This record gives sequence, structure tokens and C-alpha cells, in this order.
Amino acid sequence: APEPKRVLITGAAGQIGYALAPLVARGAALGPDQPVILHLLDIEPAKQALEGVRMELVDSAYPLLAGVVATTDVNEAFNGIDVAILVGGFPRKAGMERKDVMSKNVSIYKAQAAALEKHGSKNAKILVVANPANTNALILKENAPSIPAENITAMTRLDHNRALGQLSERTGTHVGKVRNAIIWGNHSSTQYPDVNHATVDGKPAREVVKDDAYLDGEFITTVQQRGAAIIKARGLSSALSAASSACDHIRDWVLGTPEGTFVSMGVLSDGSYGAPKDVIFSFPVTTKDGKWSIVQGLDIDERSAQLLKTTGDELVEEKALAQECLADL
Ligand code: NAI
Repeated sequence: APEPKRVLITGAAGQIGYALAPLVARGAALGPDQPVILHLLDIEPAKQALEGVRMELVDSAYPLLAGVVATTDVNEAFNGIDVAILVGGFPRKAGMERKDVMSKNVSIYKAQAAALEKHGSKNAKILVVANPANTNALILKENAPSIPAENITAMTRLDHNRALGQLSERTGTHVGKVRNAIIWGNHSSTQYPDVNHATVDGKPAREVVKDDAYLDGEFITTVQQRGAAIIKARGLSSALSAASSACDHIRDWVLGTPEGTFVSMGVLSDGSYGAPKDVIFSFPVTTKDGKWSIVQGLDIDERSAQLLKTTGDELVEEKALAQECLADL
């Protein structure tokens, strides 16, 4: 068997962490032949709950799980990691100003960047899940200058999978036959779920759905607001689908996307498709040999260009707010 890879999960005592650790231990992120050592980080108030998660992982007797490091020490957590899924963050609570939440997260991601710089492998692949995911990833990138920017990504795969799920339900087609939806921009309600290049059973999605009013209206708002709908239904935010999508993101990044398939990832923008540069923007990407590349040459109609601009503007504005917060630290 290959040497075990070290996979860090931050916020591991939280809801997503509880769903994610077992998936990674089952091989959902790195494949069924790759042993893993889980590094689990949470903060002091969650120490006991984190120990409970560690105990359950031991009790699950996973064949691929070669060890568990459960810690509240950020340096120990980042030490020697190959993959990091950063789920830990400060949630927005009722009555909190947007800037206060941003400020808390900026300080967390700045500190984690320092630990990553010092203790992580330069080749480590990093996925930021915690919100505001794109901007947290940007702060991490800017404060870990020795880590190649291409190694730092943000999760929009849940939104991508939600788009595939909606097309699947609408057309009565198994989700495995629905491909190439795109989430553009920010993991927020300004994201643009685009079906103009999507296919259902090999045919253009618009031809199969035969309802442009739905695709340009209700479909988009359903995907954008799915997170709120889950909270309303469950009384808790999406955790199993977030965990599953995080594994999809890492698996495709490490093992490659199938021929003819692209997926959505938040990556450092090079200005493709008129997106603002130097923000973490969700693009359609393909991956090969552990590297992603933005799919080029897709036609963007005028309406789509406008929607890309809206979500891009929001990311530029979030970046400015984050920089204000950094300056105040
Ligand atoms: P949760 O509140 O259940 O868990 C978060 C955990 O992070 C807690 O155990 C907390 O103690 C820990 N934590 C806080 N600060 C930390 C730090 N500095 N270092 C390490 N751990 C820390 O929240 P849940 O439901 O697991 O969600 C986690 C995050 O994921 C939230 O920010 C949420 O908004 C985000 N999210 C992102 C999605 C995406 O598609 N990108 C989808 C769903 C959730």
C-alpha cells in the first residue's frame, strides 16, 4: 500500500467535520487505495467534543485510517499535511455586523496561513469551505506567500452539485448523466449557476428541459438559495452535502476530471471571462495530474456577462472589506 497521506480537517468538532472525517477515512477524497492519517483541529471550547470524534473514528475501525491527530494547536495540526480541508471559522450570529464576522475570519485565516507557511508541505492542496469561503481563501493565499497560489482553492462544488441535482430532478435523469453546469463567482447568493454549457444525457440541457423561463429564473434562485432552504427544513445548515462535495472537490483535483467533464472550483482569477483578477473566483475547471486549469473558449451571452459582473463586483468589495479588517488587526 502507498504511504499514508496526512489530511487536515479544521473545525473537526463541528457539523461538517462530523460528516467529513468518516468520508475521508473511507477513501472518498483520495481514493480507495490511499491510506490516510487524519489531522483534526478545533478550538479550546470544542476540545472535549473533538476527543469524542477521535474516539468514534477509532471505534469505526476504518481499513484506510492509519492514524488520528486530534489537536487544538494550529501548528501541530498543519505539520506535514498533504491535503487540508478548512471548515473551521466564525459563523455569523444574529445581530452581528458583516464587518465583525469578516474581521473574526480574517484573523483566523491569517493565523492559519502562518501555520501553513511554517509547517505545511509546499505541495499541500488546500480547500477552504468556511464562509466567506472565497475571501477566506484569498486571505490565506496572501498570508502564505511561499505556498503556490494554485494550491489554494475555495469550495463551490456544493453549489455545482446542487445545480446538477436540480437538472436531474427536473428532467428525471440520473444525476450521473448530468454534466458541466457552472457556478461562476462567489459562494454566496450572488453566484451565477449557468446551464448554457450543461448537458443531460449528452444533449444540451436547454433542449432537454425545454423551459428557458425556468432555467433563467426559478432554477437560478433555487440553487442560490438552497442553503437557506436546507436550514429551514432541517433547523441546521447543510452538512452531509457539504462534506460530500468537499470530497468530490479534492478527489477530482487529485485524481483528475473525466474526459469531457468540467467542475466548478474557486481559484485565483487570472481575469478569464472578464472576471476581476486577484480574487478567488469560481470557474469551470478541468484537472489533470493534480493541477486545475480554467476551461477556456466558452461562449458567454450578454445576460451571463452581466451576472458574472455582479458576483465579481461582490468579491472585489469583500476583498476591500477584508483588507480593512487586516489593517485593523
Ligand atoms: P459548525 O459551527 O458546526 O462547526 C464549525 C467548527 O469550527 C466548530 O467546531 C468551531 O469550534 C470550529 N472553529 C471555529 N474557529 C476555529 C478555528 N480558529 N480553528 C479551528 N476550528 C475552529 O459549522 P458547520 O456547519 O460545520 O460549517 C462550517 C463552515 O462551513 C461555516 O463557515 C459554514 O458557513 C461553511 N459552509 C460552507 C459551504 C460551502 O459550500 N462553501 C457549505 C456549508 C457550510
